[in-house]
Amino acid sequence: MEGFAIPLCILSLSIFSILITSNGVDTIATTKSLADGETIVSSGGIFELGFFSPGNSTNRYVGIWYKKILPIMTVVWVANRETPLFDKAGVLKLTSPGILVLVNGTNDIIWSTNTSRTAQDPVAQLLDSGNMVVRNSDDEMKAESLLWQSFDYPGDTLLPGMKLGKNLKTGHEWYFSSWKSDDDPAQGVFTLVLNTHGYPQIFIRNGTNDLYCTGPWNGLWLSGIPDTATVPEISYYFNTEEVFYTRELTNTSVVTRSVLTHEGYITLSVWVDQTRSWLAMGSAPKAGCDMYASCGSYGICIINNSPVCECLDKFLPKYPKDWDRFDWSRGCVRKTPLGCHEGGEDGFVKYSRVKLPDTQNSWFDTRMSLEECRRTCLENCSCMAYANLDIREGGTGCLLWFDDLIDFKELMGGSGQDIYLRMASSESGVNVAGKDLLSFDLGTSIGADNTMMTEASGVSAMVVVLLGFVLAIVVEELFWRLT
Ligand SMILES: *[C@@H]1O[C@H](CO)[C@@H](O)[C@H](O)[C@H]1NC(C)=O
Ligand SMILES: *[C@@H]1O[C@H](CO)[C@@H](O)[C@H](O)[C@H]1NC(C)=O
Ligand SMILES: *[C@@H]1O[C@H](CO)[C@@H](O)[C@H](O)[C@H]1NC(C)=O
Ligand SMILES: *[C@@H]1O[C@H](CO)[C@@H](O)[C@H](O)[C@H]1NC(C)=O
Ligand SMILES: *[C@@H]1O[C@H](CO)[C@@H](O)[C@H](O)[C@H]1NC(C)=O
Ligand SMILES: *[C@@H]1O[C@H](CO)[C@@H](O)[C@H](O)[C@H]1NC(C)=O
Repeated sequence: MEGFAIPLCILSLSIFSILITSNGVDTIATTKSLADGETIVSSGGIFELGFFSPGNSTNRYVGIWYKKILPIMTVVWVANRETPLFDKAGVLKLTSPGILVLVNGTNDIIWSTNTSRTAQDPVAQLLDSGNMVVRNSDDEMKAESLLWQSFDYPGDTLLPGMKLGKNLKTGHEWYFSSWKSDDDPAQGVFTLVLNTHGYPQIFIRNGTNDLYCTGPWNGLWLSGIPDTATVPEISYYFNTEEVFYTRELTNTSVVTRSVLTHEGYITLSVWVDQTRSWLAMGSAPKAGCDMYASCGSYGICIINNSPVCECLDKFLPKYPKDWDRFDWSRGCVRKTPLGCHEGGEDGFVKYSRVKLPDTQNSWFDTRMSLEECRRTCLENCSCMAYANLDIREGGTGCLLWFDDLIDFKELMGGSGQDIYLRMASSESGVNVAGKDLLSFDLGTSIGADNTMMTEASGVSAMVVVLLGFVLAIVVEELFWRLT
């Protein structure tokens, strides 16, 4: 790619440039700026930071790319993504309080970092993780002592060690956003976010529209992606200060990256040295059952069915004519209305092997037993379903859904989980005392027990894609109410 060649003639444009050598230096100091054409390289030679032009553009950006991955220059982060330079006169400087500043040829500020603290002797350093950090040169390399880090302001690329989530104390969100195009790194329409309304779930959004939802973490995997259970480097952290997914770097000799493309897909690829190219491992969402709420409320998406949408058992299409025309958006309704509002009795019916529905309108508690969870749900006429929050150790905690249930998907291979839906007692087979739940296994009842390899592979791709997220759940609070 053009822009990677170092135009030596530019070096003389900056009085600071002479002080820097592009080999072996991983820092920018207040006395050593970086001009267009110069680079710094992380100490292990993994990443390089400098000026570049993306695709066919001639605009100049400051970015970070893999040092060793050539000839394909693979940019993982861009500083001035919204404010390009139009010539090669840009200079990246570090000012004395600890702020990185990109100026153009007339010394106007094009882009800058910020910090709530100041440093006596700041230094900006490119780490082997791909993280550019600003810190006091005396300070240890600890997250708390950093004045600024690029990992807090991700672009379209998820690298190991980055977070996807939210700092609940400061409100800072770690989210990813697509480029506009291969030629323009400005923020495009797609974002990958952790939605913290109700119990947290990962979404891909198109503007403000939800395109894809992974479902909530259940202690072992993301509810919609059972394969996340087998990706050991995925970790999920949830405590009073932060909630986030991250991927730990386990093997530095395997270079993988995940990108939210400008077409709205999250992709995972691995670098193959022999062919010197990125090998696509998978992408999501897939056609079929991945699109958010594709079967409407109380509809379920079954990838091997044709058509893919069905109403859940004991439900009927709300608008049969639309439904028959494959317009499933308005979903399904109960055959028998709930008794609750008319002073009647309700019970619950168990559905198994499903991706849990959207939890944006949910409430949760990490301590309750399933029986307490059931009673809590039964007492409130707006509670439509309950399930265990964490399926480990036979199941713990309680997740309650209010409002209509949307975005059900059948999972194959017995890997889905159980959810109990509120039903009129005549349908649930429950007696007045609320015992004897009629248990109902979705997989067998709809005869969808055949092999589902297509979907399974899609799912596994997504998993990794989701990049190997989370492992350990650290839920500290008893009562967590994020809404
Ligand atoms: C760049 O230009 C070449 C030749 O015009 C074209 O084939 C290629 O698709 C362009 N690449 C991008 C990213 O626009
Ligand atoms: C630098 O940026 C300022 C503000 O955007 C602009 O007015 C000026 O023309 C730019 N100078 C160059 C050399 O691009
Ligand atoms: C730092 O800059 C970001 C993006 O420009 C802004 O959202 C944030 O509020 C700023 N933080 C501080 C501490 O000024
Ligand atoms: C994203 O939204 C825009 C505008 O609503 C729409 O035209 C486009 O088709 C959407 N793309 C996807 C992949 O949903
Ligand atoms: C890391 O991956 C390489 C290449 O696949 C492999 O040869 C090596 O054994 C792995 N190392 C560890 C510690 O897993
Ligand atoms: C039922 O739950 C909803 C949602 O949490 C709440 O707003 C409402 O007050 C509850 N109703 C009763 C009767 O407890």
